[in-house]
Formats: sequence, structure tokens, C-alpha cells
Amino acid sequence: PPAGAVEALVHHRLVPVVVLDDAADAPALGDALVAGGLPVAEVTFRTPAARTAIARLADRGDLLVGAGTVLTPAQVDQAVAAGAAFVVSPGTSAAVIERCGEHGVPVVPGGVTPTEVMRALELGVGLVKFFPAGTSGGAPAVAALASVFAGVRFVPTGGIGPRELPDYLALACVAAVAGSWMVPRDRVRARDVAGIATLTRDAVAAADAVRP
Ligand code: 3PG
Repeated sequence: PPAGAVEALVHHRLVPVVVLDDAADAPALGDALVAGGLPVAEVTFRTPAARTAIARLADRGDLLVGAGTVLTPAQVDQAVAAGAAFVVSPGTSAAVIERCGEHGVPVVPGGVTPTEVMRALELGVGLVKFFPAGTSGGAPAVAALASVFAGVRFVPTGGIGPRELPDYLALACVAAVAGSWMVPRDRVRARDVAGIATLTRDAVAAADAVRP
């Protein structure tokens, strides 16, 4: 249920960000994530397959499925209609956040500056996607932001892989880390269940090894 989606994201501490070229690839992706021990998927609205893929994954009932790269209120409507339990946006848009509020679906807007974080707070959101993390100062920048925004939690995303993951997850202000490294687009397209499951399992183990 949407009310628990954020809690579930925080519980898993990792969010696979998926670009699906063909909704028919969604079942294999879902199988791989479940096998890898991370039953979470943020399906990006960057391909026409996104809506159907969200619906297919959500219908399984064994995955927490959200929509990513949501840029407009119309996409919020589409994501919710497809069954998305949470919405992620690269930036902080009042229109997107308000539409999510109307639907009662949790939203994680993007921000990397104090002004952007304050904008999210003014709009009632305390969980911010720190994106693009790698080129915006990385973990030290997240820690610096957190030092002035007590209570704000971050989801660093963008340019993160196994090497960078521990630096972010060591921060108490980091609720979860998102990224596509466990679900490479070519492997999703190839329906490489074993390969994606291994990458996912490795990410879960790496996350478990790091606590703030
Ligand atoms: C996103 O949509 O959040 C980003 O594409 C994820 O970034 P990454 O592909 O560098 O992990």
C-alpha cells in the first residue's frame, strides 16, 4: 500500500532504477529482483513501455513498484493508474508534488542545493532524491546538506556503483541509494535473470555490510 512505500524503500536501502525498452521484459526483471533479494523497482518514464511495465510488475504482488523520471502531473496520473506505489522525479516540481498528494502516493523529488531542499520542505516533502549524485559533489555534498537540514533524508542517485555505494550508505541522512547498476539496460533487454539476480544480490550484501 502507498502509505508504506517509503518505509519499504528505507527498509531495503536500495532502489533499482530500470529503463525497460519492452514491457515484455518486465516478468524476467521481476523474477531477477525477487531472486536477488531486492523486490523493489523504480521504472522510469523514459520509454513508452513504462506504463505497461509498471502494471505488469505491480500485478505480481511480490514487488514494490514505483515510477521514476516523472516530469509532469499527467505522468503522475499515468503512473498511479498503472499501479505505481511511489513516484520519483529528477527535480522539485510543485505541480508534480501536488498531484502526488491528490493521489495519496508518496513522492521523492530531486534536489542538490539548499534552495532546492528548502523548496521540497515548503511543499511538504522531507525525502529528497540527491541527483545527479556523482557530479553534484557525491557523499561529502550530501553530508554537508544534511548538516543544515536536520530531519531531511536523501536518496542519492546518479553515477553510483558498487565502489561509491558504501560512502553514501555510511551517512545517517541517507535513506536509500538508487541506481541502475544492478539492472543494466542490456541485461534487462536480454532477460538475463541470473546475471541481474547476481548483481542485485551483490548490492544487497554490500548494503548490509554498511550501517551508519
Ligand atoms: C535515474 O533515473 O535516477 C538515473 O538514471 C539513475 O542513475 P544511474 O543510471 O547513473 O544509476
